[in-house]
Amino acid sequence: MVSSRGNSISNQLLPFLGFLPVFFFHVLVLVHSFQISASVFFPTTQASFASLSEVTNETAANGREANALVKWKHSLDNQSQALLSSWSNGSTTPCNWVGILCNYSNSVTHINLGNFGLRGTFNSLNFSSFPNLNTINVSTNSFYGNIPHQMGELRKLQILDLASNKFYGSLPKSIGNLSRLSYLALAYNNLSGSIPSEIFQLTSLLDAQLQNSGFSGSIPREVGILRNLLTLNLEDCKLTGSIPTTIGNMTNFVYLNLASNQLSDYIPREIGNLTNLLFLSLANNQLSGYIPQEIGMLGNIQRIYMGNNSLSGFIPKEIGMLRNLSELDLSENYIYDRIPGTIGNLSNLYAIFLYANNLSGSIPEEVGKLSKLSFLQLLSNNLTGPIPVSIGNLTELLSGELSSKWAQCSNLTSLKVSNNNLSGSIPPEIGEATKLVELYLSSNHLSGEIPKELGRLVLLNELQISDNRLSGKVSSKFGLLEDLTLLDLAANNLSGSIPKQLGGLIKLLHLNLSKNQFEQSIPSEIGHMIFLRTLDLAGNSLIGRIPSSLGQMQRLETLNLSHNNLSGSLPSTFDGLLSLTSVDISYNHLEGSLPNIVAFHNATIEALRNNNGLCGNISDLVACPKIISHHPQSRRRKNVTLIVLFPILGTLIAMFLLFGISYMLYRSARKTENHHLEEPIQNLFAVWSYDGKIVYENIVEATEEFDSKYCIGVGGCGSVYKAELPTGQVVAVKKLHLETDGGMSSILKSFTAEIRALTEIRHRNIVKLFGFCSHPQHSLLVYEHLEGGSLDKILKSVEKAIALDWDRRINIVKGVANALYYMHHNCSPPIIHRDISSKNILLNLDYEAHISDFGMTKILNPNSSNLTLFAGTFGYSAPELAYTMKVNEKCDVYSYGVLTLEVVLGQHPGDLISSLFSPSSSSVCSTARNLLLKYVLDQRLSHSNMFNC
Ligand SMILES: *[C@@H]1O[C@H](CO)[C@@H](O)[C@H](O)[C@H]1NC(C)=O
Ligand SMILES: *[C@@H]1O[C@H](CO)[C@@H](O)[C@H](O)[C@H]1NC(C)=O
Ligand SMILES: *[C@@H]1O[C@H](CO)[C@@H](O)[C@H](O)[C@H]1NC(C)=O
Ligand SMILES: *[C@@H]1O[C@H](CO)[C@@H](O)[C@H](O)[C@H]1NC(C)=O
Ligand SMILES: *[C@@H]1O[C@H](CO)[C@@H](O)[C@H](O)[C@H]1NC(C)=O
Repeated sequence: MVSSRGNSISNQLLPFLGFLPVFFFHVLVLVHSFQISASVFFPTTQASFASLSEVTNETAANGREANALVKWKHSLDNQSQALLSSWSNGSTTPCNWVGILCNYSNSVTHINLGNFGLRGTFNSLNFSSFPNLNTINVSTNSFYGNIPHQMGELRKLQILDLASNKFYGSLPKSIGNLSRLSYLALAYNNLSGSIPSEIFQLTSLLDAQLQNSGFSGSIPREVGILRNLLTLNLEDCKLTGSIPTTIGNMTNFVYLNLASNQLSDYIPREIGNLTNLLFLSLANNQLSGYIPQEIGMLGNIQRIYMGNNSLSGFIPKEIGMLRNLSELDLSENYIYDRIPGTIGNLSNLYAIFLYANNLSGSIPEEVGKLSKLSFLQLLSNNLTGPIPVSIGNLTELLSGELSSKWAQCSNLTSLKVSNNNLSGSIPPEIGEATKLVELYLSSNHLSGEIPKELGRLVLLNELQISDNRLSGKVSSKFGLLEDLTLLDLAANNLSGSIPKQLGGLIKLLHLNLSKNQFEQSIPSEIGHMIFLRTLDLAGNSLIGRIPSSLGQMQRLETLNLSHNNLSGSLPSTFDGLLSLTSVDISYNHLEGSLPNIVAFHNATIEALRNNNGLCGNISDLVACPKIISHHPQSRRRKNVTLIVLFPILGTLIAMFLLFGISYMLYRSARKTENHHLEEPIQNLFAVWSYDGKIVYENIVEATEEFDSKYCIGVGGCGSVYKAELPTGQVVAVKKLHLETDGGMSSILKSFTAEIRALTEIRHRNIVKLFGFCSHPQHSLLVYEHLEGGSLDKILKSVEKAIALDWDRRINIVKGVANALYYMHHNCSPPIIHRDISSKNILLNLDYEAHISDFGMTKILNPNSSNLTLFAGTFGYSAPELAYTMKVNEKCDVYSYGVLTLEVVLGQHPGDLISSLFSPSSSSVCSTARNLLLKYVLDQRLSHSNMFNC
């Protein structure tokens, strides 16, 4: 269906559309395997449920079953009846109807309507017409009402799956007559009352899925009668009272989940009898007392979750006997004493969470034996002593070949030990744990230097070492940690200069170097971190000027440079810090005028005090002399007198550039002034397509002066409001975050041409830009308003994502492709959007995609180099763009590919892209790459429905 539009699809889009046939191939494989499994399933059920006596009276029985089903169908809503169109009076046997299976004597054995999109009640289904029914599966539909009493007549029923519907009321007592029932799922319904005692008559029951079903009350003692039960899930059921000791009678249990209730009292020792248990969760309750040492008898257990209770006492050393344990979570309790060294026996341990307890003593050296350990989280305890060397490198504990292999392939990805009393130095061996993604060592008493070996942890995302006693210099090797998003070295005794290599941390969002003794000037390379949101360099001994490159950090929200010895004026580039909301430059030697941005307009005197001569319109600050900015002469004098050491040649070049820029700004300001004079439109008020002034007033009125209740979104360069004009037309108004001081700001001027071009675009998959107006107070873009909202919001909401079925998703992908083709190939010069992401795809009520937000748009000028500052949304931009900064159509195509994957997966593909396409597969530590498509497809949609596309 895509290729029929072949002509209109650019060559560049083809690789991504090529993905679609692969996609459908997988769908076919999926469906095919489903059919095979169904045909394997048939004979067994047929064999077991057809007996000779049932063959008699065959046709009469068929007729009764068919009639009962048709009658029930007619009680469902219209859409459901359409879905069951094969259920018709015309045929006497229902055996080939959708969702129905029969035995040899053509009597119905299975009603399989899971995830069909049905809506209605069970009141009209005559259960007595189905003497041979084995399975009812109506899970994941919208059935409501009471579960009917007559269900108790289905004496042969083995599987009853009513999960994920809207059934209410209590469970009928007759359920106790389903003596063959082995599988009962009532999960995710709105049932009420306590767990009915009749359930305990179901002695054949193997698997009870009752989580989130609405039941409350206590767990009845009778639960112990269900000796055959293998699985009991009562998670999130508002259960109160204690766990009955009779639970110990259920020795067949393999899975017991009582998490997220309000259970109190002790954990019964009898739990130790459940020797077949693989999974035990008691998390998020109010359990108290000790962890029974009998837990050591759960020899098969793989996962234990007891987090967020009120447990006290110590961790029983018997825990070391659980050789199959892979996850242990005892976090958020009051557990004290040492971590038993016997955890070193848990050779299968993958994750251990003991944070937020009162554990003391040192971290046992034995953790180094846990070669499969990936998560070690011990935050917020009273642990003392050093970080064991064995954490990173086992050469001292293991011998020979094995040890060197381990050193290359430590599996640790998360080591969090912040907020303890750990002392000693950071062992350089941590540098061997090369899979580390999170390393938290903050708030301890660690001393010595930060080992440069940490520079080997190239996968590191978050590094927190703040609030320790670390000293010495920061190694330039830190600049190699290219995946870092958070670097916090605050509140130590670090000294020396800030390494300029940190500028290479291009993904960094938060950088905190405050409260140290860093000296010399701020390296201008810091300004390369263009995604940075927080920069805190307060409380150091930094000198010199603030580098103008900091003005490039367009996403910076918080900037703290206070309590240093910085001097000179604030760079004029700070006018570009449009996202900045919080700033503190107090206690320096700064002078001159404040940048003309919101953060400084709103700054309090506390954030500016104790400088040498700042001026501006803030109270308590002297007003600036009339002409202060762009004044090359005064700057030059300051430069020469203040920074004597600055090389004279460099100064001259800087002056030349400054003068040049000022001159150009001056020239262009003159030009637009002339331009305005020629036009009859008012000087400060540029409008197209509309009588601007009236529209502007209407918009201000309709949004009650941009009241937040009309705000429907906030983006990088502005907030979007919904406004209903007096004509009845609803438009979306984007108010740009541009403060204008009586005229179009220079940034807007440079966009004027682009905006003008966009008003001329007309395409069904592009949001219409009606016009633009610049007013002394607000600059506004007026767009077509789309009721459906943005694609990213829809994909995040479970309900809306389900409504966005495969058909609609394909249409969205096609719509975006058409719009991009139009922009790249039918517009001259081509228009590059530069920020294609799910946030910027809006849908109308028919789920038709519209590209919006042309804030970053670039018109390709064939004569210029098209080099630019980085723009776009992180995670959607082509990797090469980050270093080449070259804009062409390929940027949009890459983002389109990411978007397409997001539509198919239901979420941003994240690391999937790099793991699919990365060439470094030979690494010993490489992760599993053979992902099956069915596991990554949006799980909220039925995959069999993909046929409809
Ligand atoms: C019921 O049907 C749903 C949807 O087809 C399926 O996922 C589920 O496994 C079925 N339940 C049982 C017990 O087989
Ligand atoms: C359940 O079985 C009992 C005894 O066999 C019977 O009295 C009762 O009517 C049955 N209930 C239903 C709903 O079939
Ligand atoms: C269940 O266990 C309790 C003690 O744990 C015991 O007294 C009782 O006899 C057991 N019940 C059954 C039915 O075996
Ligand atoms: C657990 O390890 C300790 C040494 O740490 C050893 O003495 C003990 O025998 C081990 N226990 C089991 C059950 O293997
Ligand atoms: C941990 O350190 C804090 C502050 O230095 C101290 O008050 C506390 O007593 C220490 N706790 C232990 C268990 O050493």
